[in-house]
Amino acid sequence: MTPPRKLHIKSYGCQMNVYDAQRMVDSLGGEGFVETASVDEADLVILNTCHIREKASEKVYSELGRLRVAKDEAARQGRAMKIAVAGCVAQAEGDEIIARAPTVDVVVGPQSYHHLPDLLKRAARGERAIETEFPADDKFDHLPAPKRDAIRARGISAFVTVQEGCDKFCTFCVVPYTRGSEISRPVAKIEDEVKRLVDNGVREITLIGQNVNAYHGEGLDGRSWSLGRLLYHLAEIPGVARLRYSTSHPNDVDDSLIAAHRDLSELMPFVHLPVQSGSDRILAAMNRKHTAADYQKVVDKFRTARQDIAFSSDFIVGFPGETEQDFRATLALVAQIGYAAAYSFKYSPRPGTPAADMQEMVPAAEMDERLERLQTLIDSQQSAFNRAAIGTTVDVLFERPARNPGQIVGRTAYLQPAHVMASDEIVGQVLPVRIDGLERYSLLGALAIDATASAPRLSVPSATIGA
Ligand code: 5AD
Ligand code: SF4
Repeated sequence: MTPPRKLHIKSYGCQMNVYDAQRMVDSLGGEGFVETASVDEADLVILNTCHIREKASEKVYSELGRLRVAKDEAARQGRAMKIAVAGCVAQAEGDEIIARAPTVDVVVGPQSYHHLPDLLKRAARGERAIETEFPADDKFDHLPAPKRDAIRARGISAFVTVQEGCDKFCTFCVVPYTRGSEISRPVAKIEDEVKRLVDNGVREITLIGQNVNAYHGEGLDGRSWSLGRLLYHLAEIPGVARLRYSTSHPNDVDDSLIAAHRDLSELMPFVHLPVQSGSDRILAAMNRKHTAADYQKVVDKFRTARQDIAFSSDFIVGFPGETEQDFRATLALVAQIGYAAAYSFKYSPRPGTPAADMQEMVPAAEMDERLERLQTLIDSQQSAFNRAAIGTTVDVLFERPARNPGQIVGRTAYLQPAHVMASDEIVGQVLPVRIDGLERYSLLGALAIDATASAPRLSVPSATIGA
């Protein structure tokens, strides 16, 4: 029997990439590959790249420089190491990668992962294989259900892709170009995948998509189902303790999604709802097609449906033409909404996007200063949100033993890590925890019940902390 070949995969960027990496591991498992944490002993290294923000492609080329050294060393030892570039940089810059980095054997875009085994066979024959076409047919062909014996437990929490691509064309964003137009997966396939994950011990499912609430997949009745309808359906699967979804666009929040938050205890009251800016002028230049007031209205709808709901967001500072006044409108919006967490980035032109041609660049020093002011405000909101948990009892889904012996770590409804001293038998259970301290971003507490005496709880009563 030939020894298994070893695969090292390094993923950058979004949850979709994490998910795709797992799928590549699954599909290459069928070809006799096993995963290794060490680049040096790999027969195949895949860089699963992200193109969304600053210096994405430079990072890829410098990583490829390091890999060339590892590949040469492997060759000296008589081993042929192959190098593949996947993900959105592969999609956006395929030919250039082949031209600039002779060490690369395979370039594969996100819509073509199901062709990886073929591409590797071509590479084994000495060809340099590239595939970055958008297939005209079903984009989800690259997401075949993993074979029953290939599916591995994903731990307690897993991602499931429900839609891919985006038709919004925000002027700063590469996603519509690298991931293509928006398409949704049929409900039956999603249900099948969720059931299999749950059979393998997964308790929390995060539905992912670049624009997840634009979901409109074929339902079990042959009609188009919304994300809300899909969530109602998935919440009925026994063993699904928690549901989440990411990332949403404010303009695609419909009544069924709001109702799902009102009705489903499994649906976590924590929504990632990027707004990008608080200035209507900048929002228009970004082609967001909503104002700050529209966004606030959407947030209010969620809050009316579920009082303990909290939000996170993404912000871009220094979009071309952003004035101090525009930036202050962003600070004002943040102050008004009150976030549990948020990510903020300096604008970086992405080649091929409309904003890349906009002339009024904000000077770098100003961008730095604005980013710092925004992050200070967000940090203070996040700390206040975390401190508000102290003294309350919250439900925690326990995920794994923590680094400190005897400690188990899980997450609250708001994805805050929470640590307790307990036996590892509680992994996979949702249990109430009395929070009595905070260490950086982690909550510290004690189980509020005798875990050994109680059966696992599947549903999540409303948490006791609010935004
Ligand atoms: N520059 C800076 N940030 C960007 N993002 C997307 N494109 C850019 C860009 N060109 C940010 C947005 C998005 C998040 C995933 O990345 O805030 O929501
Ligand atoms: Fe990019 Fe999100 Fe805008 Fe789509 S909605 S173009 S993914 S920022």
